[in-house]
Amino acid sequence: MKRGHYTGRDFRRAITIEDLRRMARRRLPNFSFEYVEGGAEDESTLRRNRDVFERIAWLPRALVGAGPPDLGTQIFGRPVNMPVVVAPTGFNGLLWPQGDIALAKAAAAAGIPFTLSTASNCAVGRLAAAVQGNLWYQLYAYKDQSVVDRLIDRVAEAGCEELVITADAPVLGSREWDQRNYRSPMQLSLASKLDVLCHPRWLSQVMLPSGAPTFENLVEFLPPGQYSALIGAKYSFSQINSRLSWHDVERVRKRWPGKLVVKGLLCVADAQRSVEAGVDGIVLSNHGGRQLDGAVSGVELLPAVAAEVGDRLTLMVDGGFRRGSDVLKAIALGAHAVMIGRATLYGLAAGGEAGASHALDLLRAEMDRAMLLLGCGSIPELGRHLIHS
Ligand SMILES: Cc1cc2nc3c(=O)[nH]c(=O)nc-3n(C[C@H](O)[C@H](O)[C@H](O)COP(=O)(O)O)c2cc1C
Repeated sequence: MKRGHYTGRDFRRAITIEDLRRMARRRLPNFSFEYVEGGAEDESTLRRNRDVFERIAWLPRALVGAGPPDLGTQIFGRPVNMPVVVAPTGFNGLLWPQGDIALAKAAAAAGIPFTLSTASNCAVGRLAAAVQGNLWYQLYAYKDQSVVDRLIDRVAEAGCEELVITADAPVLGSREWDQRNYRSPMQLSLASKLDVLCHPRWLSQVMLPSGAPTFENLVEFLPPGQYSALIGAKYSFSQINSRLSWHDVERVRKRWPGKLVVKGLLCVADAQRSVEAGVDGIVLSNHGGRQLDGAVSGVELLPAVAAEVGDRLTLMVDGGFRRGSDVLKAIALGAHAVMIGRATLYGLAAGGEAGASHALDLLRAEMDRAMLLLGCGSIPELGRHLIHS
């Protein structure tokens, strides 16, 4: 038989994240899959996020008798079962009904944090009531300061302890493949509508029961009764802050009592600046290749940033993580934890909460196996000595 990926419908039979990606592609209409998949412009950064891992080679230690590995560690003083955090992704309701809750439950079951996006389809209070877990919140620091203040207060009221402010979106990246599915903002083209009709399972499960999911965190700021996804998206675009600066971070720092993370940095000087601003953690990130095309990958900056600030804040990274060994490479290069975006979204699209759990199980099993093959018994044993340079 020729080599090929799993082509069936039972997500439990997917043995890699790539299998889940292909299932997601079959299950979702093109516009919805493209929303998840696409990168900005020529997608060179999107590709770079994957290619970078192939250039990092292991120097394993043989015959060390390490035994079953312990992947447990702490993030911001809280125990986690593996050094992984589910990244904030907006509009998860486009993949599965109540997609945010499903993803957050999968993360909680895996013993790792989940980050709710400002552009989610579930309000932070409703999520906190539905899911017992380590819940973080991602903040877009909008133009209107009173909206930002109100969002921060609601996050605190919901009992979240970590706030992630996204630094790399002073304008929306140009995701051209995504745009081609629309004739105007949020209005699908005729071809996209016909493609939707070719996905009756998705249509009946996700769209027909209650229509396009709304941006629940933003509903409070919309005109009364006008809560549609279209109006929510227009509001969100209108609030994008092209003057986003360290001043905004410092302002949020003053108001937010919990742990503060800045996500979307890609240079050593900015990492140093975040220490001065009093943040507790950073995520080296190019937003999954969706913002500045041609940008470097966060993983490439790890050694330099870890050397400069790695002992003064929690250093995280994201972009392109699809294998357990990718996660371990980042830890060996100095990250304390890794954020994953699409890997769990593919699982969510393929099978809801159970599908997202399956994605996390696959990553965990790959980490376990790689740790044994590396001769490592625990996360602190990972280091630069295991990387060929
Ligand atoms: C569909 C999708 C939606 C996203 N939405 C947000 C968001 O609302 N806020 C944010 O800070 N980052 C967002 N991101 C970026 C992710 O948080 C993360 O940086 C990226 O997905 C990591 O790359 P990966 O998908 O290759 O793992 C989004 C990414 C995707 C794929």
